[in-house]
Amino acid sequence: MNQPTFDRLMDCPPRLHFWGNEWRVGGLGPPQLRLVERAVKGLGDRIEVIETGAGLSTLVFLALGARVLSFLTKPDLQERIGKAIDEYGLPAREWRYVLGQSEFTFPKYLDENPEAVCDLVLIDGGHLIHTVFTDFTYGFASLRQGGLMLLDDLQASSVAVLYRMLKASRFVEEIDVAGKTVAFRKKVKARLPGSWVETDLNDLPLDDIAQKSNAH
Ligand SMILES: C[S@@+](CC[C@H](N)C(=O)[O-])C[C@H]1O[C@@H](n2cnc3c(N)ncnc32)[C@H](O)[C@@H]1O
Repeated sequence: MNQPTFDRLMDCPPRLHFWGNEWRVGGLGPPQLRLVERAVKGLGDRIEVIETGAGLSTLVFLALGARVLSFLTKPDLQERIGKAIDEYGLPAREWRYVLGQSEFTFPKYLDENPEAVCDLVLIDGGHLIHTVFTDFTYGFASLRQGGLMLLDDLQASSVAVLYRMLKASRFVEEIDVAGKTVAFRKKVKARLPGSWVETDLNDLPLDDIAQKSNAH
């Protein structure tokens, strides 16, 4: 763990993303980064992370001493992350990435690496419903029992649907939340979630979800 670099990333994060005619840090602010820090520290040393959607999260995981596999779409973003890794003195050898849309590359990766297992999955990529649910399915499959799944962007309707389903599942338990980001622990060994929703989704607390959807 490189605490000074983690603190530097908190205080002065690089603007790795470009949208709406502006360079941006991305969606993870200090409360979300603190959640990531708690999650990683709670899992122990030298953990394996898989993320869909790379950027500041990649640097933060590396600063926290994790080994990271990122699924990302943009070669230019991959180059900026590579430069930032050097600038912040992070270990480049601990970062692996796969370019392409995660809904296609993640299943292919697991098919080719059926033994792949990780301690933490961050789902923070595309928001199309098929992307979110594919990221979840393959993220869940690669996550060890007791590992953590972090979902960012609960304000997106696709992520909110997944969040409602996870809240109804006996296979995971919610352990932490920071605004629009939530952490679940995987309670089971199973690689696929199977038939896991036991509650009628309509019975779930919508107010709670609406509140998080408005959080930033
Ligand atoms: C809000 S950003 C967050 C990224 C990162 N976790 C961070 O902390 O900066 C979401 C990223 O997901 C990427 N993305 C969108 N659709 C994707 C897909 N289908 N597969 C992988 N990444 C995708 C976007 O290009 C964008 O860089």
